[in-house]
Amino acid sequence: MFNFFGKKTQNSAPPENISDRSIPEDFNDIEPIAFYFKAETGITFEKQQSILKSKLISFCKIRHIPSFKKCLEQVKNNQRLKQELINYLTTNESFFYREQHQIQDVVNKVRLNDQVVNILCAPSSTGEEIYSIAIALLEAGVAKDRFNLIGIDINSEALKHAELGIYNQRNIKNIPAHVLTKYFNKKESKYCLSNEIKQCVRLQTENIFTPSFKTMGKFDYIFSRNMLIYFDAETKIKARQILESLLNDNKNPIYFGHADLF
Ligand SMILES: C[S@@+](CC[C@H](N)C(=O)[O-])C[C@H]1O[C@@H](n2cnc3c(N)ncnc32)[C@H](O)[C@@H]1O
Repeated sequence: MFNFFGKKTQNSAPPENISDRSIPEDFNDIEPIAFYFKAETGITFEKQQSILKSKLISFCKIRHIPSFKKCLEQVKNNQRLKQELINYLTTNESFFYREQHQIQDVVNKVRLNDQVVNILCAPSSTGEEIYSIAIALLEAGVAKDRFNLIGIDINSEALKHAELGIYNQRNIKNIPAHVLTKYFNKKESKYCLSNEIKQCVRLQTENIFTPSFKTMGKFDYIFSRNMLIYFDAETKIKARQILESLLNDNKNPIYFGHADLF
């Protein structure tokens, strides 16, 4: 047998199906990395420790990092590696027209007057949500110069995917047929979003817990859906306060996902 660094050993197995007894000491204690990751991103793996361990072992193996201790040291000292870890451990599942009634609610409010509105989508993940907002505004007859749509996410790879704007059937399944044909180009099994929609949004890699996030400006409407589900109760409250501090008018609600409930 070979261990996950390719060295011959007596009893190691590949990381994916590793049992606790066969994990070398160097890959047993996930606590320090889990603690650091939560402190940096807000994301807790408290109830998914074995998933975290198996993912971290793979992360280390691919990069020839010999232990969790070394991994943490390197991540702390290397911004690129830290970003890779964040990209690796965040969940980016999203789809178009998700809880569309909330988007429609904002569209209806925007239509009421002719002011320019600033809308923040934090997090945007692979773009489905922020593009759904852009499409809904245009479909309602709101001119492009009437809104600024800013999307952020901690996962830089997810945002690259968003910039590309190429989606699978699974992501677009809720879009009405006439909207799909209007704003997407089908190429084989993929759906490519039109430049017209892509140009309506600005995307930026940001962590909501970093000071730079708070300097992004003020927003009339904020969507923050399906991110808080990865935080514990205390962190949810902290995240909510940060988001509220970016609202122009506290009378406007922040749109959370139904699973984010406090
Ligand atoms: C499941 S996606 C939700 C995407 C979209 N809002 C939706 O509802 O379809 C959750 C996103 O939260 C992002 N995220 C997690 N922690 C974050 C943080 N501290 N700052 C910014 N984004 C974060 C993840 O990278 C991931 O893309």
